[in-house]
Amino acid sequence: MDKLQIQGGVPLEGEVRISGAKNATLPILAGALLSDGPVVVGNVPHLKDVTTTVELLGGMGATVTVDERMRIEVDATTVRDYSAPYELVKTMRASILVLGPLVARFGRADVSLPGGCAIGARPVNIHVAGLQALGADITIDGGYIRARADRLRGARLVLDTVTVTGTENLMMAATLAKGETVIENAAREPEVVDLANFLISMGAKIQGAGSDKIVVQGVERLRGTHYEVLPDRIESGTYLVAGAITGGHVRIKNTRPDHLDAVLMKLQEAGATVGVGDTWVEVDMRGRRPRAVDVRTAPYPAFPTDMQAQFAALNTVASGVGTIIETIFENRFMHMLEMRRLGAEIRLEGNTAIIHGVKRLTAAPVMATDLRASASLVLAGLVAEGRTEVERIYHIDRGYEAIEEKLAQLGAQIKRVPN
Ligand code: EPU
Repeated sequence: MDKLQIQGGVPLEGEVRISGAKNATLPILAGALLSDGPVVVGNVPHLKDVTTTVELLGGMGATVTVDERMRIEVDATTVRDYSAPYELVKTMRASILVLGPLVARFGRADVSLPGGCAIGARPVNIHVAGLQALGADITIDGGYIRARADRLRGARLVLDTVTVTGTENLMMAATLAKGETVIENAAREPEVVDLANFLISMGAKIQGAGSDKIVVQGVERLRGTHYEVLPDRIESGTYLVAGAITGGHVRIKNTRPDHLDAVLMKLQEAGATVGVGDTWVEVDMRGRRPRAVDVRTAPYPAFPTDMQAQFAALNTVASGVGTIIETIFENRFMHMLEMRRLGAEIRLEGNTAIIHGVKRLTAAPVMATDLRASASLVLAGLVAEGRTEVERIYHIDRGYEAIEEKLAQLGAQIKRVPN
């Protein structure tokens, strides 16, 4: 198992290209199951979760090819096995995204229940209840969700909680249902909109994606398409914080600034000068120490839970006291305990972390517990005095393409070494 070694203290400087969004790629690849013809997906990031999805689709019998530029072609006409086995689901919860497409297209799905998770309970009750309302017969048996249906029927779905993959699963299922489906209290994340645009390019009739009410008119069939995934807003935000925390000057390219409003506001509050173009953003924190900021996570367009850990890292070395309130996941503070090992002053009270900025962090071995937690430990390592080692970085490889190469390109002293 590899680890990352980081020699802290170098202000980052330069440009970095943002990859395609993990959390748009995964539902789009699952959505390819809905199509009658071959689907080609471009701007796909080279990530472990993408490889897992390819394995998942391949295991079902889909014909999947990946070229050297990470363009993925999926032909679902050869699917013969309608299951997502526990062995894959336990490594990637997003496997649940095949549930809606399988039952809508093939009338059956056996998808392992994801079970517990490092950041919270993360139930899938809303996915299941929504599919039942669309007419699927669902039983839970042997740890599997077993769904059967002739043809799904459109319905009005009012989601209990705003759920991203829940909205995506139900929107995908509704595309092939008979009649109209209305999803109320839908998630408004840009990844939901990207998935909707992908489905529309296959012939789906969807309105309202990006608002809290999505209306889908079911069609008989969906055709093949060619689609480019949108840039990753969380990877974008992570590199901007890397620039800010090191007192550097970083420009991210090939991004969507309009998806970063809440994050850019917090960077400005922290004292960074932020510049924005049509496809780039830059952050300049040269010669300054960041100011602590208060953050409260909530569904888009509010501040994303997937950026909470990175701003916690920023607060650890900022002037003043910053409060982080996590409202989406109940156990997403593991990085706080690891950051304390680097000398951070953090007090935890339920879902609130109160961080007193210190002048300097000092290097120590730390352990990654989930994807964004790992990223935050790398950020802390970039400013800690001495050599920080981040272990269990397979978490990072699930969601950040070539992170050590991109950071090294900005001048960071970082390398991947075998443990
Ligand atoms: N929830 C339920 N019941 C459900 C579904 C969700 O109670 O049936 C609750 C969850 O427990 C949570 C809240 O609803 O408290 C919101 O969770 P959501 O369903 O939106 O999360 P998700 O769809 O499982 C996606 C991303 C996560 C991201 C969250 C929140 C993908 C593949 N994953 O997860 O990304 O944190 O939305 O924005 O899109 C990551 O990339 O590191 C990551 C964890």
